[in-house]
Amino acid sequence: MIKILFVCLGNICRSPMAEYVFKNMIKEKGLENNFYINSAATSNEEEGNGIHYGTKRKLEEQNIPYGNHQSRKMTKSDYEKYDYIIGMEDSNITNIKRIIGEDKEEKIYKLLDFADSINKAAKNEKYSNSRNIADPWYTGNFDKTYEDIVEGCNALLDYCIETHNL
Ligand code: 4NP
Repeated sequence: MIKILFVCLGNICRSPMAEYVFKNMIKEKGLENNFYINSAATSNEEEGNGIHYGTKRKLEEQNIPYGNHQSRKMTKSDYEKYDYIIGMEDSNITNIKRIIGEDKEEKIYKLLDFADSINKAAKNEKYSNSRNIADPWYTGNFDKTYEDIVEGCNALLDYCIETHNL
């Protein structure tokens, strides 16, 4: 079982979008039993709140099902529970490390690390070379966020299929 936690600042826009996009992809490939997927926040700003309307609208437009989500701030113990902890932008990585401490097992990635090529996920290229996924809470552009999340999730799934021999 490959356990992935998608993380953003509020856990109402980007990380739930990534969670449900990725869940839909693995379902379409018949791989859902190989994964445990969840999402969380680095802040408690939106604690207990549901998915942002813009994310819901985008998921509905794409016929991607979503669950009864409630924002949750990640905890230090998530580091033991998950194999991959995937932020959306550099500031998420900084905040994740503040919660977790040192990334001893190199579990922390940025989603678009996986995108351009599998080599982008090579350990010493993490964080620095890939784009950030803009926060639609500020930009209002849920279409661009969705495009980037699909790109990242497709690449992440290819990476998992190859790395874990699925
Ligand atoms: P998200 O967007 O990190 O993609 O869920 C945000 C949601 C809420 C806030 C910031 C970003 N906020 O400051 O409450």
